[in-house]
Amino acid sequence: MCGIVGYIGPREAYPIVLKGLKRLEYRGYDSSGVALMNGQLQVYKKKGKVAELEETLVGKDLHSHIGIGHTRWATHGEPNDRNAHPHLSQSGDIAMIHNGIIENYAQIKQELLAKGYTFKSDTDTEVLLNFIEDIQKNNHGTLEEAVRIALRRIVGAYCILLIHKDDPETIIAARKGSPLVIGIGKGEHFLASDASPIIEYTKEVVYVNDYEIAIVRPDELILKNLGNEKQTPFITKLDMELAAIEKGGYDHFMLKEIFEQPTTIYDSLRGRLDAETGSITLTGIEKYAEQIMNANRIMIVACGTSWHAGLVAEYIIEELCRIPVEVEYASEFRYRNPIIHKGDVIIAISQSGETADTLVAIENSKEKGAIILGIVNAVGSSIARTSHAGAYTHSGPEIGVASTKAFTGQLAVLIMTALYLGYKKGTLDRDKYLSLCKDLAAVPDKVATILQLDDQIKALAEKYKDATDCLFLGRGYNFPVALEGALKLKEISYIHAEGYPAAEMKHGPIALVDENLPVVFVATKDSFHEKVVSNMQEIKARKGKVIAVITEGDTITPTLADDVIIIPPADEIIAPMLSVIPMQLLAYHIGVAKGYDVDKPRNLAKSVTVE
Ligand code: AGP
Ligand code: GLU
Repeated sequence: MCGIVGYIGPREAYPIVLKGLKRLEYRGYDSSGVALMNGQLQVYKKKGKVAELEETLVGKDLHSHIGIGHTRWATHGEPNDRNAHPHLSQSGDIAMIHNGIIENYAQIKQELLAKGYTFKSDTDTEVLLNFIEDIQKNNHGTLEEAVRIALRRIVGAYCILLIHKDDPETIIAARKGSPLVIGIGKGEHFLASDASPIIEYTKEVVYVNDYEIAIVRPDELILKNLGNEKQTPFITKLDMELAAIEKGGYDHFMLKEIFEQPTTIYDSLRGRLDAETGSITLTGIEKYAEQIMNANRIMIVACGTSWHAGLVAEYIIEELCRIPVEVEYASEFRYRNPIIHKGDVIIAISQSGETADTLVAIENSKEKGAIILGIVNAVGSSIARTSHAGAYTHSGPEIGVASTKAFTGQLAVLIMTALYLGYKKGTLDRDKYLSLCKDLAAVPDKVATILQLDDQIKALAEKYKDATDCLFLGRGYNFPVALEGALKLKEISYIHAEGYPAAEMKHGPIALVDENLPVVFVATKDSFHEKVVSNMQEIKARKGKVIAVITEGDTITPTLADDVIIIPPADEIIAPMLSVIPMQLLAYHIGVAKGYDVDKPRNLAKSVTVE
């Protein structure tokens, strides 16, 4: 999920690796480390910023012509010095860094423990490293061969760099799912997660493909597949500037993170949902499953976008698990002296895991005997550590202040949780359960399809960017999506926007409607659709402008709306993960059209750690 840097050649490796890690800081991380070699393998690593690592190395003998470095975004094992990378194998002979998630690490760890291996960290990475060492020891072969054999068994995503104490002339690298770029120098090579640490040294790069292994020496780059067949390195010339590279070629982090969602939603589901067999594995929740299933009520506390995810979860948990759910703004909940009974369940939803109001809300509730379930993105964050149980969303670092991929990651985990509990409790029949599992598994591809509407939505943004007010309307599962669409527009374009249940308009807000007011309807095909269409007619009767997000095949709404955004069908429980994407893109493009800094909107912070 985070950053990797490597160097081998005639220059001093440490300054190049350290500067490379600083170039990758924009990706977000919680710890960092380097491995060097001057006669022996030296590993230095530390929780916190790269600058803090640098401070601890002042005055040390860091002479080395080979080096690897890592910025970690924890997925397995909380952020601390012990879990930071590089890791050393049991023998101390091999150092390795890794980006990604090894899904089947637990089983491999059990096998290694049975063989007498011990582990210094809680990471999946160290398991892979000792697995490689174990293979090399048993096969008496090369490190390259052991890596190839090991990776054939690995399930998950990885970009790994390894160096062996007996071979200071070689870095071994491999990737699947996590990126790896190799810069071609004169008698030297540079390796990194993207080109930003490389571009100042060379513009000739090789983008390593999935299932390829690279054997990298100062004046040699060999690429092979896992079948040990040589591959021809395809050298391309970098034509992006540094700033563009950091954003993956997108103009802003927000757009990059919107477009990452097919991958990040898949990462949320990875290793947990198997739609074919209908199995859902949520190891962080299973221990409390009985208590949650039998709770008299569930309260959800969160802020902002995470609160909107909670509202979606309310509808879904009540529908699938038949447990009463209340959703509370954490900032209100914590001061209201709420009535909490022992055994009540509280779900805390937070991208950062550090939102002060949410943290204090659950600390207070925990003291009163509630069971806390944390749905968090940042591993090892305060909210995660305060929770009794939970599941990480694995959305990767979210840099844009406006939350996008974290929201869909939260929904993915919340829907899996509701499916798991409802089916286990018997309130969800098997057919519906299997159908929803399949629908959920299909979301990444459907989101990718919706993202192809970007140009159409950009044109819509041009049409409506000068509006001074905007309403977002939806019913049922799409009502929270209307609220989220309004929040996105507010915080990115500074246009006043409000979300409402569509039926609520006649109780006052319809007085706002005139020919200048754009009204965005989240009107996907669901059990509320006919009613939503009636609400749309009420708006049109008052000359309001209607933009409608609708489902493929809807022939009624296009006759009513001024503009339609057509998205693929999905069960209404899953639909919010799809209908929110046009909301995100509309807000983004209006903000850009108005010339605002969409990554850092005025007055906002990414994580509100103040009360
Ligand atoms: C959403 O776009 C905002 N940036 C903000 O509302 C955010 O969702 C809220 O502050 C909660 O943050 P958290 O998820 O990190 O707890
Ligand atoms: N899964 C590994 C860990 O948690 C790597 C995380 C990353 O990609 O930074 O340490």
